[in-house]
Amino acid sequence: MVRHIVDTRQMKDRRFLEGLFQRADLMKDAVVNNRPVRKHEGRIVASFFYQPSTRTKMTFDAATKRLGADVVGTENAKEFSSAFKGETLEHSLLAVQECFDLVVMRHDKNGAAKRAAAILKVPFVNAGDGTNQHPTQALLDLYTIREFFGRVDGLKIAFVGDISQGRTIKSLAYLLAQLDGNELYFVAPKELGLPEDMRDHLKEKSVVFHETSDMDPVIPIVDVLYVTRLQWEYVMDEAQKNLLMENYRRFQITAAIADKMKENSIIMHPLPINTEKSDGWPEITPEVDSHARAHYFRQSNNGLYVRMALLDILLTGEADPLYSLILGVP
Ligand code: NCD
Repeated sequence: MVRHIVDTRQMKDRRFLEGLFQRADLMKDAVVNNRPVRKHEGRIVASFFYQPSTRTKMTFDAATKRLGADVVGTENAKEFSSAFKGETLEHSLLAVQECFDLVVMRHDKNGAAKRAAAILKVPFVNAGDGTNQHPTQALLDLYTIREFFGRVDGLKIAFVGDISQGRTIKSLAYLLAQLDGNELYFVAPKELGLPEDMRDHLKEKSVVFHETSDMDPVIPIVDVLYVTRLQWEYVMDEAQKNLLMENYRRFQITAAIADKMKENSIIMHPLPINTEKSDGWPEITPEVDSHARAHYFRQSNNGLYVRMALLDILLTGEADPLYSLILGVP
């Protein structure tokens, strides 16, 4: 049976996560020491990006090439593919799927990943669908946590920022909820707080979690401060956008705030950080980039190794013992 990666709820099996991370360790070791891993020569990966991306697209493409496979695709599929002419997603995929051994796709619509996975005969990887899920980001986030703390359980993780629209938060929170004893904090302006479906899911999983608009008491007690930008591109109403941007300023992480964190704690961010150009206000000030607790560039680069490991499993298929541990799409 062909396996797809659409949602982090498919990764409930600890053996899969541990196996994936050990594989990512091997990939990292090979890349850092300049040893080629050309296991998949002759294979072709499709890369459909209907929404902008820097890190995700580059690390997927680089991961594919480092594995010896080729990548074919369009990074502006909304304008440069037949989607521009009004073709449905299903038709675009069905028309070309035999060209590829695996499909990677980012789309602006929630649920687009599930639609793609429902029709594809080759493995599919969701590189982000609207405000819904971004499972490979959550995997590289968890890998980064494991690399620093040596474990993925029993940690206090605070998500700060746009909880309601951030797909990275949802994906990582669901992944952490499947592990043991992680305590989650959701820190956001009221308008961007925990959506009902996430609250219900976390309750159902009996996860200990807290919701607050007060950042100060949370800063000194958490192991991980996971900051996200305001997802302003999803807010169509100008007045609402201005109001959110105004409220968002209270949640800015400065070096003084980073200093108040525990000794053994880290700041993560899926990136990009908003700037004035992107209609916002930086949720992390530039001086934090060189702070000892800032781990977001290591986190982003880890995307290469985790995606290499994941593509390796999916391109190997049934012959890989980890392949069958990927559960069905919920
Ligand atoms: C994130 C995304 O696209 O969801 N970026 C990424 O893939 N690293 C976060 C964001 O855009 O805010």
